[in-house]
Amino acid sequence: MVKQHVNIGIILFVFFVCAACLHGCRHFSYEGQHPELPALPEAFFVGTDSCIPCHDDVYRHYKQTVHAQLQSDEVKGMQRGCETCHGPGSMHVQTKRTGDIISFSHLTAAQSSAVCLQCHRGDPVMDWRANRHVMSGVGCNECHKSHKITAPKMVYRGDPEICFSCHEEKRAQHLLPSHHPVKEGKMRCSSCHNNHGSENNNLKKLNRNDICFECHAEYQGPFVYEHVPVIEDCTICHDPHGTIADNLLRQNEPFLCLRCHKGHRPNPKTGNHPSMASLMTSCVQCHAQIHGSDLPSQVKGGGLTR
Ligand code: HEC
Ligand code: HEC
Ligand code: HEC
Ligand code: HEC
Ligand code: HEC
Ligand code: HEC
Ligand code: HEC
Ligand code: HEC
Ligand code: HEC
Ligand code: HEC
Repeated sequence: MVKQHVNIGIILFVFFVCAACLHGCRHFSYEGQHPELPALPEAFFVGTDSCIPCHDDVYRHYKQTVHAQLQSDEVKGMQRGCETCHGPGSMHVQTKRTGDIISFSHLTAAQSSAVCLQCHRGDPVMDWRANRHVMSGVGCNECHKSHKITAPKMVYRGDPEICFSCHEEKRAQHLLPSHHPVKEGKMRCSSCHNNHGSENNNLKKLNRNDICFECHAEYQGPFVYEHVPVIEDCTICHDPHGTIADNLLRQNEPFLCLRCHKGHRPNPKTGNHPSMASLMTSCVQCHAQIHGSDLPSQVKGGGLTR
């Protein structure tokens, strides 16, 4: 009898120790564990005030961010200030060693994104895993800077500058004679691209033409006389970033058209087709409604001429 009581006592004791341990451990780790999430299992939280004396420059920048302005009750864990992202700081405040704090310069892209993904799970990063950037080892902190506020949404140097820094060839395209007014500040890479999701060239919409129709609705149709490649994909003829040819065309006319068409054969009656002379210049001189038309050609059937 007595022995049994002791056993139950031991079992209860072990149970409470384990429970206390698990509870404590949860304090030292983040909510909603992520396999890549870095941790400092030995340390405990000491509060933002203990960081300020040595990092007042960082603190001044941090104060301007959305993260610092969040009410503590809005987001669980945010009341931990600096330690929300850098982990518990008890060891680091003693040693000042970077190894005793979560230092982003020592993390992989996946680990550093995991810190952000604790809270950012919904919009806009819901489909983050399908993004070409995450698959190529580009994490949140390549584009966002948590302390250097240089542009809205904590985007480092802003869109398009941050994009140009890695996509040099896109900067070159935007210097060509015909280009979308991105570097002029009238639109951004993010006008067409989704930086946080979509496996389809990181584009905002699955159907490319739907992106174009947002701003060029006049080409949406439906038209009585459609032009097949226009319905299929605007980018068959246009490069959205920049081209040497006018109108963002991938090639000049008539070569663009002659990729798919033979042009005109001589008219058997007159021996010559009126367009033969124009063959070397412009097809849209006559086929002015190249994107689709509701009116038939004056000669016969369709023809995209008016
Ligand atoms: C007593 C001064 C001191 C205190 C207090 C202190 N730090 Fe540091 N911290 C340093 C020094 C010095 C370094 C640079 C260490 C090095 O370069 O090896 C550093 C480095 C860091 C780094 C790494 C920087 C990098 O290069 O990636 C982070 C992150 C950091 N501290 C965050 C914190 C946080 C968060 C707190 C509060 C919990 C804090 N520090 C409190 C002195 C301090
Ligand atoms: C929202 C997450 C987050 C919070 C909160 C945060 N940091 Fe950082 N910190 C980062 C990231 C990410 C980096 C790496 C540089 C970057 O990408 O912005 C960084 C870098 C640093 C560095 C290295 C120097 C530098 O500027 O790169 C220090 C020191 C630092 N943080 C200290 C602090 C202190 C002190 C606080 C609180 C006042 C704080 N951090 C709050 C995410 C955060
Ligand atoms: C403790 C939770 C939490 C963590 C961790 C966190 N964030 Fe946030 N963040 C928020 C909340 C809440 C907002 C405000 C609401 C929103 O925009 O989703 C916000 C806003 C933002 C914004 C929009 C800023 C603006 O000006 O509107 C960016 C960008 C951002 N976070 C990036 C990051 C990055 C990068 C990291 C990792 C270094 C990170 N966040 C870590 C909770 C967090
Ligand atoms: C390739 C660059 C890039 C990467 C990588 C990136 N972002 Fe962004 N993010 C941007 C740009 C540019 C904006 C502002 C334009 C926009 O809304 O898309 C932005 C906006 C945001 C916003 C604000 C959205 C809003 O509408 O207020 C949040 C929050 C955010 N990012 C979080 C993250 C998080 C978390 C990660 C990592 C999981 C991440 N971002 C990765 C470029 C990036
Ligand atoms: C007008 C819409 C639009 C704008 C603005 C835009 N893109 Fe694109 N982008 C697209 C479309 C559509 C595709 C897929 C078709 C293609 O490959 O040309 C694409 C493809 C890409 C690709 C992958 C294929 C390739 O050509 O290498 C990259 C990288 C890219 N864009 C980067 C950028 C950058 C960086 C910016 C800002 C400087 C930008 N884009 C602005 C629409 C746009
Ligand atoms: C740190 C470097 C870096 C930054 C910053 C960056 N990218 Fe990228 N981006 C890459 C890498 C690496 C890839 C994958 C390899 C590739 O396809 O070129 C990629 C892929 C892409 C793709 C998809 C290409 C495809 O073939 O599907 C697009 C679109 C794109 N980036 C647009 C942007 C935009 C828009 C920005 C700015 C908001 C940006 N990138 C910022 C490095 C970067
Ligand atoms: C966010 C709005 C926006 C989106 C989305 C957009 N465009 Fe544009 N587009 C513009 C603006 C603004 C101009 C410049 C108009 C001007 O200068 O008068 C332009 C100009 C053009 C031009 C003429 C270029 C020249 O040199 O005159 C073509 C062609 C074009 N866009 C095709 C496209 C295609 C194809 C898509 C889809 C991949 C697209 N656009 C998506 C806003 C947009
Ligand atoms: C078969 C090739 C082809 C396709 C596909 C195509 N276009 Fe064009 N687009 C042209 C040609 C050729 C011009 C020049 C017309 C001219 O000089 O009159 C042009 C000119 C334009 C212009 C600039 C002229 C203006 O009205 O400002 C825009 C914008 C445009 N296209 C948008 C689109 C959109 C949106 C799509 C997809 C729905 C598309 N294009 C598909 C061949 C094409
Ligand atoms: C990617 C291939 C492609 C390109 C590039 C292209 N077309 Fe077409 N075009 C087609 C196809 C496919 C049809 C439908 C053929 C059919 O129905 O027999 C068509 C039909 C036509 C028609 C007949 C329309 C009708 O109503 O019967 C004309 C005119 C035409 N294209 C002119 C042009 C001109 C001008 C250009 C250059 C600006 C051009 N096309 C570029 C593929 C292309
Ligand atoms: C001088 C005006 C003119 C020029 C320039 C012209 N076309 Fe045509 N095209 C027409 C007319 C009118 C039709 C209507 C059908 C017909 O009578 O043959 C037509 C019909 C077509 C058709 C439909 C085929 C058919 O027989 O129904 C295609 C494809 C076509 N043109 C392509 C081109 C291409 C490609 C170029 C440039 C190399 C071009 N056209 C230049 C006037 C012209």
